[in-house]
Amino acid sequence: MLDRPITASPSLDAAPRVGPPKPDLLTVEDAKAMDVGTMADLFKHHVNPGQFHFMKLLGFHKVKVERAEGMFYIDQNGRRILDFFGGFGSLAFGHNHPRIVEARKRFQDEKRHEIAIAFLSQYASALAKNVAACSPGELDMVFLGSSGSEAMEAAIKVAERASGRKNCKIVHAENSFHGKTKGVLSITDSPLYKGEFKLVDNTYRVPFGDLAALTSVVRSDPDVGVVVLETIQGGGGIIEAPTEYWQGVRALCDQHKVIWVADEVQCGYGRSGRFYAFEHHGVVPDVTALAKSFGGGKAAMAAMIAKRDVYMRAYGTPKTAMIHAHATFGGIGEGCITSIEALNTLYDEDLIGNAEVVGAYLKERLQAIAEKYPSIIKEVRGRGLMVGLEFHDFSKTLPFALRPVVALLDDKLKGSLSGFIGALLLKDYDCLVAFTEYNRNVIRLEPPLICSHDNVDQFCDALDDLLGRGIVSIVKDFVKTQMG
Ligand SMILES: Cc1ncc(COP(=O)(O)O)c(C=O)c1O
Repeated sequence: MLDRPITASPSLDAAPRVGPPKPDLLTVEDAKAMDVGTMADLFKHHVNPGQFHFMKLLGFHKVKVERAEGMFYIDQNGRRILDFFGGFGSLAFGHNHPRIVEARKRFQDEKRHEIAIAFLSQYASALAKNVAACSPGELDMVFLGSSGSEAMEAAIKVAERASGRKNCKIVHAENSFHGKTKGVLSITDSPLYKGEFKLVDNTYRVPFGDLAALTSVVRSDPDVGVVVLETIQGGGGIIEAPTEYWQGVRALCDQHKVIWVADEVQCGYGRSGRFYAFEHHGVVPDVTALAKSFGGGKAAMAAMIAKRDVYMRAYGTPKTAMIHAHATFGGIGEGCITSIEALNTLYDEDLIGNAEVVGAYLKERLQAIAEKYPSIIKEVRGRGLMVGLEFHDFSKTLPFALRPVVALLDDKLKGSLSGFIGALLLKDYDCLVAFTEYNRNVIRLEPPLICSHDNVDQFCDALDDLLGRGIVSIVKDFVKTQMG
C-alpha cells in the first residue's frame, strides 16, 4: 500500500464539526505519488480484478505513466512510450496539445460557467455551429453528450422517431460495435458484451458490406426504419466496405424512407483522411455521431448530428422538444471550449491532410514488412491513420515442441500472435498498440493525427526487428515474460 502517511487536509476553521467525520480519503498528491504496486492493489480491490488479469498478461500493469506529451507516454523510469494505440482514436492531437491545454487554462482563470441547463450556453451554441460547419449537406442539428455510447443512443432515438414507424426495427451489421449502454448494446454484435442482459429485441443483423442482404431485410419488413453502420468498423478489426455499397445504402434508405445512421465515433474526426469517413464515398447519412477525439484528448465530449429535417420530425415542437434534450453534463462549458479549440486546431494544423499523407506512408511501410514476413502477416488494411494489421492464426502452424507451452497460456492468447507481439513491442521497443476483441489476430494502429514520418519509421523499424526474430522466438520470448 502507500509507502508514506496520507496527509490530512487542514480543517476550514476551528468550529466544531457537525457533519460526518472525513473518511480515509486519498489526496490528489497521494494519487500522483502512488507507486505501481499500490495502483495495482487498488485497481484489483475497487475497480476490476478480471481486467487486471489481462493487463498483467500483456505486461501493461508495470507501467505508471507520469506524464504524456505529443506522441508519447513517459513512465516512472523516464521511458518514452510511442503511442500507436491512441485510445482507440481518442487522441487526434496527441497528449496534452499545448493550444488546447492553454484554452482550458484561460477558461478556468476567467471563472467561466460549466452547467448549461438553466441559461443558454454561448460555448455549446458555438460548438454546435462549428460541428455543423464541418458537416456536409443538411447535417445541421447537434446534440452534445459525453461519450460515444451516449451519442449513439441519441442517434438511434432521433432516427426511430423520425422514421415514423410505431414498431420501428433497427438493422445493424455483423461485428458492429456501437457502445455498451443497453440501447446501443442491442445493436453491438458481441455475445460477450451482451452478457445475458434483456435488450431491445427489434433488431436485425446483416453481414457488413453486403448490399443484397441489407436490401432483402429492408424490403421484407416495412417496420425497418433505421439502419446503423460504422463507416469503417473499428472493433471488427478495421473493416471497410466499397463506395458502391455506401451509394447503395443511401439509395435503398431513400427509396424506403429508412433513416441511415453512420457511426463515426472511431473512424470520424479526420482519422481516415476526411473529416467523416463517409465523405470518401460521396454520400451523406441522415444522422451521424462523433466522440473520442472530439474532446481534443482532454475532455469527455461527444456529438450526435442529424439532418435538420430528421431532427425536426423527432423533436421539433415544444411538445416533443424535451423528449431527448441534453443530459446534465451535455454541453458542459470547459468541454465545449476544449472541442471548439480542438476543431480549430484540427484545421489550422492540417491534421486531416496529415492523416492522409502519413497514413499512406504507414501503410506503405507495413506492406513492405508484410511482404518480408508473409508467413506471419496476413493483411494490412485501413485508411489514413486507422490501420489494421492481421496476423495468421498460428495455432496450427506452431512447431509441435512449443504447443504444450502455449497450451498453458490464457485462452485469450492461444492461436493469437497479436497479444505476444503487442506485449513485446511494449517491453522491448517502447511502442504501444491496440488489440481487437472480435478478432484476436488483429492489431489496430490508431496513432494521433500529429504522427510524423519519423514516428512511423520508429514503429515500423521496431515491428520489423521483432518479426525478424521469427515466430518460435517471439513465442518463447513472450512465455519468458510470464515467468519473470
Ligand atoms: C464505433 C464506436 N461507436 C461507439 C463507441 C462507444 O463509445 P464510448 O466508449 O465513448 O461510449 C465506440 C467505442 O469504442 C466505437 O468505437
